[in-house]
Amino acid sequence: MASDQIIEEKKQGQALITNSNTTNSKKVYLESYGCQMNLNDSEIVASILAKQGYNTTVTMEEADLVLVNTCSIREKAEQTIRKRLEKYHAVKKINPKMKIGVLGCMAERLKEKFLEEEKMIDLVVGPDAYRDLPNLVKEIEAGREAVNVILSKDETYGDVAPVRLNSNGVSAFVSITRGCDNMCTFCVVPFTRGRERSRDPESILHEIQELHDNNYKEVTLLGQNVDSYLWYGGGLKKDFDKASKEAKENALDFAILLEKCATAFPKMRFRFSTSNPQDMSLDVIHSMAKYNNICNYIHLPVQSGSTSVLNRMNRKHTREEYIELIDSIRKIIPECAISQDMITGFCGETDEEHQDTLSLMEYVKYDFGFMFAYSERPGTPAEKRMEDDVPNEIKKQRLTEIIQLQQKHGLFNMQKYIGKTVDVLIEGNSKKSDAHWMGRNSQNAVVVFPKSENEMIGDFVNVTIENCTSATLIGIKE
Ligand code: SAH
Ligand code: F3S
Repeated sequence: MASDQIIEEKKQGQALITNSNTTNSKKVYLESYGCQMNLNDSEIVASILAKQGYNTTVTMEEADLVLVNTCSIREKAEQTIRKRLEKYHAVKKINPKMKIGVLGCMAERLKEKFLEEEKMIDLVVGPDAYRDLPNLVKEIEAGREAVNVILSKDETYGDVAPVRLNSNGVSAFVSITRGCDNMCTFCVVPFTRGRERSRDPESILHEIQELHDNNYKEVTLLGQNVDSYLWYGGGLKKDFDKASKEAKENALDFAILLEKCATAFPKMRFRFSTSNPQDMSLDVIHSMAKYNNICNYIHLPVQSGSTSVLNRMNRKHTREEYIELIDSIRKIIPECAISQDMITGFCGETDEEHQDTLSLMEYVKYDFGFMFAYSERPGTPAEKRMEDDVPNEIKKQRLTEIIQLQQKHGLFNMQKYIGKTVDVLIEGNSKKSDAHWMGRNSQNAVVVFPKSENEMIGDFVNVTIENCTSATLIGIKE
């Protein structure tokens, strides 16, 4: 998932207004950085705070409480947030009653230290502690600092109905797992989001039902590692072995969950993110093939094309196993789009290992990609045991090479649609022109086409593709 990008409520419109409670008198300004999971968490936070008398606002200057949901994935993400805190501080100087809170991964990573480092912060809350916000907010309203960064074994916020802040009214995120057990050596997520646990399928289906009833047409099931979803009555994934025989027999995995969603809501479209190659089963690919309303798109981060680098990263598969998985996907769903995350310049990466990444990309020809230079994160196994020894210029040079190659492959894949007709869910106006609609096809490619009289946002329409750029398909409605 592309991170480091600011997603402000200002861009979010409608849902915000419909969820405003007229009896609420206080205002919270919420900003989210990082992954889609953070966006969804902010919606959970807004829901919890709505019951405490807070409506959301898009104007920071009028807020009683400013909350920033933070990302720690790379150093740059943290720097961006530090800069943002300076802006909040400036506003607080004019409005000293305003309280500032830090949520999410950076809160979890830095804990109480945050209060020492950033004097104007009142509140620090980790990703598993949002349910405690009512108490914490009372503390800060009484003029005290408040911190809760306790990670949980079973928190999934399953019963909290998110306030859809980030919505176009058509597509929404639904979280299905939290945390991650994979311990990739470069990654801070297992430390900031805790151990992996899955959400009760009943509460997932209930949330989708509500979205359905509110005319939503597309749901993205979210988790750090959706393919390892496993419901056996609650609890950590790692404790599954200790579960009762009955619990084990009734356990439900991701392929079954996907099928349940697809059959319960045949008029809605389903996506999911993110898949870890080591956990993706052929069952999931077969479920995708079986149901038209499960989109033909898999985000399948690989990080490197070299088995030795994958080994140092503690990724539990080789280059050959990954290629085998790609071949199976292509065999079962020939039209499936596949995207990657890559890291260049991981500890000890040689030029030969980098060439392996380029050759893997040549083999797969990914539809999309999110590429990053390795950024050492405090407390991770890589930081403790390995040397961040690839010089910055080399990291950057390799990054440029893979980005350029990805652009070439992106264009190559987009060109394949020219002359074909694709099924598009209309999401809204095209960024460039109000006379055009923007939507996506099943493969997650953005499609732009001229409006006519008979369609509206949320409709599925057939569009014949006439032209493209490396990022957009341009067509005409059939
Ligand atoms: N499973 C998660 C992965 C989260 S991190 C998901 O839902 O996407 C997203 C991506 O950030 C990773 O796939 C990886 O490519 C990149 N990333 C993680 N840690 C990084 C680091 N220390 N430096 C550079 N990139 C990193
Ligand atoms: Fe991070 Fe690896 Fe989990 S990238 S989120 S530890 S799958």
